[in-house]
Amino acid sequence: MIFPPRPRRLTGMTAQIRPILIHPDRRLRAECEPVAEVDDSIRALIEDMLATMYDAPGVGLAAPQVGVLKRVIVMDCVDKDALPAPVAMVNPEILRVSEELNVHEEGCLSVPEEYVEVTRPARVRVRWLDAAGAPQEADFEGLWATCVQHEIDHLDGRLFIDYVGPLKRKLITERMKKLKRARAREQEEREAGVA
Ligand code: NI
Repeated sequence: MIFPPRPRRLTGMTAQIRPILIHPDRRLRAECEPVAEVDDSIRALIEDMLATMYDAPGVGLAAPQVGVLKRVIVMDCVDKDALPAPVAMVNPEILRVSEELNVHEEGCLSVPEEYVEVTRPARVRVRWLDAAGAPQEADFEGLWATCVQHEIDHLDGRLFIDYVGPLKRKLITERMKKLKRARAREQEEREAGVA
């Protein structure tokens, strides 16, 4: 696997951890817009997304998960003990997929604590713009291949639970609605406590 070059610190700004949307949310089902120009606002978004992903913690995050409907994803699939290898992709496109498939148990920060086995191509070739706006192309395999496909799916409003049967998907969705209600209640209680 070719590892893309490691990005430098992108902006002088302090990265903000942004709230992650939980399924079901119509913003997670939107077709995201391509980025016209990789400018400082996009670089700030990338910094925030990386900070949010590492904080969660997760191995990938797509812009719609923080409510921004633009084609931007971040990933870091290296071992917990290895040095961080953050990758940010603007307008990523899958150019080629292998015939060979791979089954991986996937999870998603927008569908917390749910894991399902998803079958996808084992290797993919991807083209994207990096944080400097320069075109990049690389092959991915293993967890990176699973992750990049999962994150690009987000940009088309697709979630990993779309790969399971309708019954299981409905069950997971019901559990997420319950989780959101519980979190909203907690939030109200916290606010009432502070007041
Ligand atoms: Ni996800």
